[in-house]
Amino acid sequence: MSQIIHPIDLILKKRAGEELSTPEIQFFVQSVVANGEQKLNPSAYRPAGSTITDAQIGSFLMAVFQKGLSLRELADLTNAMRYSGETFDATPLHSFTVDKHSTGGVGDKSSLLIAPTVAAAGLELSPSISVPMISGRSLGHTGGTLDKLETIPGFDTQLSLARMTEVLLETHAALVGQTPRLVPADRILYAMRDHTGTVESPFLICASIMSKKLAEDIRGLVLDVKVGSGAFMPTYELSKFLAELMVSTGELAGTRTTALLTTMDEPLGRFSGNWVEVWECIDIMKGVRHPMSADLIELSNALSGWMLFLAGKSATPEAGAKLADEILRSGAAYKSWLQIVAAHKGDISIFTDPAAFHKPKATRVLKASRAGYLSSMNCKQVGWAVQRLGAGRTKPGEPVSAHAGIESHAKLGTKLAAGDQIFTLFSEDAALLDEPYRMLEETVQIADAPPQLQPLVREIVTKDTLPKK
Ligand code: URA
Repeated sequence: MSQIIHPIDLILKKRAGEELSTPEIQFFVQSVVANGEQKLNPSAYRPAGSTITDAQIGSFLMAVFQKGLSLRELADLTNAMRYSGETFDATPLHSFTVDKHSTGGVGDKSSLLIAPTVAAAGLELSPSISVPMISGRSLGHTGGTLDKLETIPGFDTQLSLARMTEVLLETHAALVGQTPRLVPADRILYAMRDHTGTVESPFLICASIMSKKLAEDIRGLVLDVKVGSGAFMPTYELSKFLAELMVSTGELAGTRTTALLTTMDEPLGRFSGNWVEVWECIDIMKGVRHPMSADLIELSNALSGWMLFLAGKSATPEAGAKLADEILRSGAAYKSWLQIVAAHKGDISIFTDPAAFHKPKATRVLKASRAGYLSSMNCKQVGWAVQRLGAGRTKPGEPVSAHAGIESHAKLGTKLAAGDQIFTLFSEDAALLDEPYRMLEETVQIADAPPQLQPLVREIVTKDTLPKK
């Protein structure tokens, strides 16, 4: 006879720092989903013994936040969340499925370059590669791929899993949002974490990200874990710990997983916002190499290179990065991009002149107050400035502005003369310029000596570099 599990026992056990069993973790996740369904449909049947209250869910999350999880518990939690609703089935694709995920950055539009680049490689090489990319919206100070894509008139990010399969068969990449039935446990737990002070747990972040990624039925995953003043994790050590947890969890689930720890001390590329980021990527795919986009191209190629390497298309990740750069330069990624956007019902005619589609109603330029080197900025503050210009939300579900954002005119380490441009701010409402302008003015530092700069890719975590147990 199976033993009845009581939520209070799980809370007490975790609070005492003890290890939970696989059935106990499965019970917790199933109860969370049942609790969520009950709220949507109070008369719904509820399996005996699955009763858990919101207070108990919050309390359990806090116990995990405080005591952490063993790798086995983390794998169990991720797995239970992954299978808490529907999952994508990649079998019909007969392809090596691979994706990338970033922990969130400012001006980070690398997904928009990587998906068509790897898809273009997938079309030309056999066996093929496909990129089933399920992305998110802007979160906190960071931008979201879905918000950027939706500035393309007609672009449909809300595809059913069946349509996603068709798009992948046609174009080798699909760029979609989470469906309501995909990983419902994460949807509920994420919302609960947001108001119980349990967001920043590396264990809970790992389970949240990896359950969604593994639900894509991917064989390879490349993670871009940000470090620096624009990262969610407050220290390098915590970012590295998160990277190691995610690589362990992915590998335990049978997905080849690598994490790149990358610097996020200033906005990536030339533009930060929504449409402006799409515009920057179109320029790159058409062969325009603006000097401000150099870091973005380097990062995208490094991540694409690892994806191509995991898929067996290059002998090394470095050779993969070279191949990615050739695909970008040759126009093959742009051809692939047009096919992907058309398959999502997006209007590709606006790519003819992307600058003409950028219509902010108000702009203001932040200039250097004195001569010297651009030495530092709090990148999180820059991200918040971008969001407050209208590119992000002040509450869930709010529309975002397509045209709000900033253009970076100088990178850290640039020698500036007094009056040189640092940022141009864009907004659809002139009244929204003042606060972000002040935030940027306050955070930008100019010094007499050049700053010590970090390389873009700081460290790479693979299954071979994981600490031995
Ligand atoms: N992104 C996610 O999907 N989940 C987290 O917990 C944090 C970032």
